[in-house]
Amino acid sequence: MSDPTTNDGAPSPATSLSADTMTVRGGVPVEGELQIRGSKNALPKMMVAALLTSEPCTLTNISALRDIEVVDELIRLTGGSVERAPDHIRITADAFTALGEVDVERLHNASRIPVLTTAVSLHRTGEAVVAAPGGCAIGPRPVDFHMSVLRALGAHDDHRDGMIHLRADRLRGARIDLPFPSVGATEQFLFASVLAEGDSELANAAIEPEILDLIAVLQKMGALISVEPNRTIRVTGVKELGGFEHRVIGDRLEAASWASLALATGGRLTVRGVQQQDMSTFLNVYRRAGGDFTIDADGRTISFRRARRMLRPLALETDVHPGFMTDWQSPFVTALTQADGVSVVHETVYEDRLGYTDALRSLGAQIQVFTECLGPTRCRFGAANHRHSAVVVGPTQLHGAELVVPDLRAGFSYVVAAAAAEGESVIHGVGLLDRGYADFRDKLTAVGVDHS
Ligand code: EPU
Repeated sequence: MSDPTTNDGAPSPATSLSADTMTVRGGVPVEGELQIRGSKNALPKMMVAALLTSEPCTLTNISALRDIEVVDELIRLTGGSVERAPDHIRITADAFTALGEVDVERLHNASRIPVLTTAVSLHRTGEAVVAAPGGCAIGPRPVDFHMSVLRALGAHDDHRDGMIHLRADRLRGARIDLPFPSVGATEQFLFASVLAEGDSELANAAIEPEILDLIAVLQKMGALISVEPNRTIRVTGVKELGGFEHRVIGDRLEAASWASLALATGGRLTVRGVQQQDMSTFLNVYRRAGGDFTIDADGRTISFRRARRMLRPLALETDVHPGFMTDWQSPFVTALTQADGVSVVHETVYEDRLGYTDALRSLGAQIQVFTECLGPTRCRFGAANHRHSAVVVGPTQLHGAELVVPDLRAGFSYVVAAAAAEGESVIHGVGLLDRGYADFRDKLTAVGVDHS
């Protein structure tokens, strides 16, 4: 694949120093209120779910995100229709034609979501094409788990010219054990098994709140799915699925990013539209680090602030849900540069998600990265020599610098660092933030970050 710009991933070297530049004048605590809308990691997958039926499907609590454009285009190319309004999306996939190789290559390069339509395409046409994954800034993002799920359910695959061609007359129920609780592979399993013949079981499944919300959508459509307490998902296939109306879960990743900005700058932010339960691990860590929050009666409005002048250092290990999410890591660790002492970070979900620390060093942060597992878990990256642990020594007075955004969450971390730093920072490639932070520039203005 020629263009390494992937879903949540990196700008290509050619575009990284483009006009997409933001200047931030930092050193001022943020203050204000933000409305968070539908989750980036749930909404596009619910649009994919709509392709499992020819009946109309409606999603509300919509945010303006790049992945919606990608799935919108994919739905139109396969023969469906998409009606977009500021407060809802209505999808009718009364026709479905498998995508050709050229469209597959382009769409799979643009986003991680199109690979999730593989099972849909197999159900509706008996065939599907997948582009072999390329590199991106947080690791190679392989699809081997997705392929083993589809193979177990009866798909046959054939690899040629960088593409994987799959065929299946009818998917059939199977028992599958994932090597790692992958979000994407669990979603692929759900899309494949709900219309497969017979019973299916996925052990070691991902159970992120976004997946449970997707399961709620599939249940509305008529699917039979149960989530067992031991990370096992059981599905009994049905013959057909119907339409749905659904309000998408709020984006807990975005909420935690803004909360980290409040922590790093010593400010106060109120975030509306997320669920306390979905963020409880983040909230515990936030409080341990010297942040504080109040939560309204229904758990949907959280006000974040720094509780003490100097933050407390801590040991942090990322994990699948209900652990500390990998997507929370980089903005939060950026705030830890302001903690009084040594913090230790162990990233166990992606092998290459600490690259942003190089840039933080250019703002004056003291961070060292290690290949060892610096945490209680012996993760799969230690033996493979990946630089996946970090030691952060604080507090450091950050100063302005010039930065290039490598991926979505790192990009937000640079904004956090620049807002906490004295002086002016220039951040190139901020367009990548539109993938996960709807109305990003307006929100920065609303909370008092001086930028242009
Ligand atoms: N993996 C494989 N083989 C596979 C699939 C995954 O080895 O076939 C590995 C990955 O390389 C990674 C780990 O398994 O090391 C977890 O990957 P997972 O499949 O869970 O991630 P994903 O579905 O590709 C989603 C989110 C990510 C989020 C992860 C983990 C979307 C579009 N992306 O990715 O979000 O970090 O789950 O929660 O839902 C982000 O929002 O910035 C972001 C990267």
